[in-house]
Amino acid sequence: MINYIGSKEKIIPCIEKCISGCSTLWDAFSGSCRVGVNFSNEGKNVISSDISVWSYHIGNCYLMNDNDRNHYTEMINELNALQGIDGWFSQTYGSLEKLPYQIKNLKKLDAIREKIDEWTLTEIEKSTLIVSLLEGLNEVDNTLGHFSSYLRDFSKRSYNDLILNVPNYKIKQSDNLVVCGDVFDLVDDIQADVMYIDPPYGSNNIKMPSSRVRYSTYYHFLKTVCLNDKPDVFGKVGRRIDTKKDCDISVWENVNNDIVVGAFDELIHRAKSNKILISYNSNGKMNLDDIIGVCEKHREVKQVFKIPHRKNVMADMKSTNEWNNTNSNEEYLIEIE
Ligand SMILES: C[S@@+](CC[C@H](N)C(=O)[O-])C[C@H]1O[C@@H](n2cnc3c(N)ncnc32)[C@H](O)[C@@H]1O
Repeated sequence: MINYIGSKEKIIPCIEKCISGCSTLWDAFSGSCRVGVNFSNEGKNVISSDISVWSYHIGNCYLMNDNDRNHYTEMINELNALQGIDGWFSQTYGSLEKLPYQIKNLKKLDAIREKIDEWTLTEIEKSTLIVSLLEGLNEVDNTLGHFSSYLRDFSKRSYNDLILNVPNYKIKQSDNLVVCGDVFDLVDDIQADVMYIDPPYGSNNIKMPSSRVRYSTYYHFLKTVCLNDKPDVFGKVGRRIDTKKDCDISVWENVNNDIVVGAFDELIHRAKSNKILISYNSNGKMNLDDIIGVCEKHREVKQVFKIPHRKNVMADMKSTNEWNNTNSNEEYLIEIE
């Protein structure tokens, strides 16, 4: 799967511990979909939603696929056999001072992405091929895992050829649903046993321009690969015009702490699920007191975990009543009923 800032891959065992016994999970900020996929593979029903279009395709591919993986082999072989062409990606990104990919792979991307649009595909097939492309690109990038800056000297991996593989999904066995949408447009209508809330953290560094720490900025390139809409771009990294300043801002990424806390308050107030599990980071916009304050206003706080960023997360997962912020980099998991 793709690299994703804020991915909860490492703390899935901790999340599992909190929600064992539930049969439906709403992963309301699904991102890379790792959390939902893990639960779906255990036979649980997952509703996966996120405002970002790449998450929709990942969800379709990994949570909704009822095709055997062999179904895609011929299509992937055909895409891999294409010759690179001079197209929008190679023209737009090939002329930058620093490049996100080598020219040969930008040209290959041009050929593959155009071909996917030429074919008549079901929604799930299209998502699966797009995810295969995103995963292939992930292996040959010249970035630090996001598209806010590119490396000056080409990374070793970027010299490899872009190769697509069939994504390693399991055929859909549970009753899943994938939606692309703002959490506030969905919250009144979705009731699962557990709602998992993992919003963007923004940054508590007030010197950081907020337009730099948004998912739409980090992953502008992924959005363009998904949509193939050839947008106007600007700046050194060729950001989509719709990531400029005030466009496309999620309320969770607002610079103003009160606005973020207000959004969180409204979300918890409107949530329909009995159990809610919240993930947040100690360097995020809201501090732990803000979060606990909102939770206690509407619900009963069952457990608060602080998980340091280390390898063996379970060993370090500790329940705590000390809710003051620390300067270290910790993941918070807050369970409320
Ligand atoms: C911390 S990440 C989630 C990471 C995810 N749990 C994972 O393991 O990959 C936050 C996600 O919130 C999404 N997001 C931002 N604003 C949103 C909104 N208003 N409604 C729904 N999703 C939103 C972003 O696209 C991003 O994928």
